[in-house]
Amino acid sequence: MKIEKIEFHRRDNATGKLTFLESGMGKDIPFDIRRVYYIYDVAPGERRGFHAHKKLEQYLICIHGSCTILLDDGSKQENIVLNDPSTGLYVGPGMWREMYNFSPGAVLLVLASEYYDEDDYIRDYDMFKSYLKEENK
Ligand code: TYD
Repeated sequence: MKIEKIEFHRRDNATGKLTFLESGMGKDIPFDIRRVYYIYDVAPGERRGFHAHKKLEQYLICIHGSCTILLDDGSKQENIVLNDPSTGLYVGPGMWREMYNFSPGAVLLVLASEYYDEDDYIRDYDMFKSYLKEENK
């Protein structure tokens, strides 16, 4: 499985750090960002996600603290630690994800290519496997 992490632009100086990104063709985020959401105040030991998307593309950025993302493409699993506000993890369609190990106060920012659409979710792991089988026929 290919893990796509990108480093956003950073401007650091003695007073602090600044990260920026732009979206659109040929920009840092190659799709137009239609939705932004963030996950925070996650209780210790809790795990979230447990779904895949049919079409949605996302970049996950842990803008404060750290958390771990489990990615599963149906044949392989990878666990990726996010602990840097200037790094984004790409999560494309057909990828099961879980988020865990949130440090106290962690904030996980998500940049998404589409508006919220529950029909784009696959929330059952067995259905995810069947979906992949159908897709790869
Ligand atoms: P969900 O995607 O299941 O969260 P997680 O992947 O972190 O476990 O979303 C939780 C709830 O919020 C669910 O009822 C759907 C709703 N929701 C929206 O209404 N709009 C959104 O943009 C998102 C991401 C979730």
